[in-house]
Amino acid sequence: MKILITGAAGFIGSHLTDALLAAGHEIVAVDNLSMGRMENLASAQENDKFSFHKLDVLDYQNLLSCSSGVDCIVHLAAFKIPRYGKAIDTLVINNLGTVNILKVAKELDCKTVIASTSDVYGKSSALPFNEEGDLLIGAPSKPRWSYAVSKMYDEHLALASMDAYGFPVTLLRFFGSYGPRHHLSWWGGPQSVFIDKILRDEVIPIHGDGQQTRSFTYIADTVRGIVAATLKDSANGQVINIGSTREITIEGLARMIHSLIPDAPELRLEFVAYEDVAKNYEDVLRRIPDDSKCFELLGVRSQVSMEEGLKTTIEWQRKELKL
Ligand SMILES: NC(=O)c1ccc[n+]([C@@H]2O[C@H](COP(=O)([O-])OP(=O)(O)OC[C@H]3O[C@@H](n4cnc5c(N)ncnc54)[C@H](O)[C@@H]3O)[C@@H](O)[C@H]2O)c1
Repeated sequence: MKILITGAAGFIGSHLTDALLAAGHEIVAVDNLSMGRMENLASAQENDKFSFHKLDVLDYQNLLSCSSGVDCIVHLAAFKIPRYGKAIDTLVINNLGTVNILKVAKELDCKTVIASTSDVYGKSSALPFNEEGDLLIGAPSKPRWSYAVSKMYDEHLALASMDAYGFPVTLLRFFGSYGPRHHLSWWGGPQSVFIDKILRDEVIPIHGDGQQTRSFTYIADTVRGIVAATLKDSANGQVINIGSTREITIEGLARMIHSLIPDAPELRLEFVAYEDVAKNYEDVLRRIPDDSKCFELLGVRSQVSMEEGLKTTIEWQRKELKL
């Protein structure tokens, strides 16, 4: 297949590009390089079946031009949680970008897979989160919810487009993916920051009391889910959780990473009150996916243990930071 991937130079996009090229598909990669890096696509660039367009997904005309002959689109380009401001980017890029992608998909009449997020479950207490469950979002005075709201809109728009125009869509709700090539800041998630702090013998900042939980998913498992959802018709018209069911507290994550670095200095944690993290910040206290739909429809379930995934990630980050 000829597959267009937006956000291809980012963390998930670059791994997905490598996996689909390895399976023999042709990849048309799009990224404006605002958060992604060409280094992430170094091996892809050696493949004849790979082409790259430095392009903003808000630029509909050029997006349409480079999509010629594409059989399927995987739309990953997005602006994530606006922890440090820029909620406007989250709302505009995630909505207008998806509007443009779905317009291209309508023109080409092709399947479109769109990245959503576990954040849409918000403060729901119906654990584990099932795709049919209610979504419980905080007030608009708390800008962090703009991310979940933007992805909810994308989900509705995609399903409504399938209903109106007939081309298949798939919505994937990712649960905290981590691994080599994650962004080396909070943008890349807590693993990135915690590894960095330990390697530099600095204090690890823990937001809140650190007892909030997440289900982190190693990148190879996330990519296995995306590949299956892209290639299998069973995913058409579906919203699917892609994530590991192993729950861990944020403090537990810091302790686990520390225990996996053999020559680590003494662990130092600093608990940062939510008021000091960001304006009106509100956190999700527990997050675990129900992964049964993913397994039934796609035959995919997370396989890589946290210990294994973290060891590989630590090794990569140590080399990357030359520490
Ligand atoms: N990483 C996770 O754990 C996670 C969890 C839930 C959802 N997601 C979703 O998965 C997708 C990929 O996430 P990621 O972690 O790889 O993020 P990332 O920031 O590493 O990758 C996103 C890529 O999109 C590009 N981009 C941003 N705005 C663009 C624009 N206007 N035009 C073109 N390119 C643009 C960036 O340069 C970047 O390379 C996103 O949609 C994100 O919301 C990720």
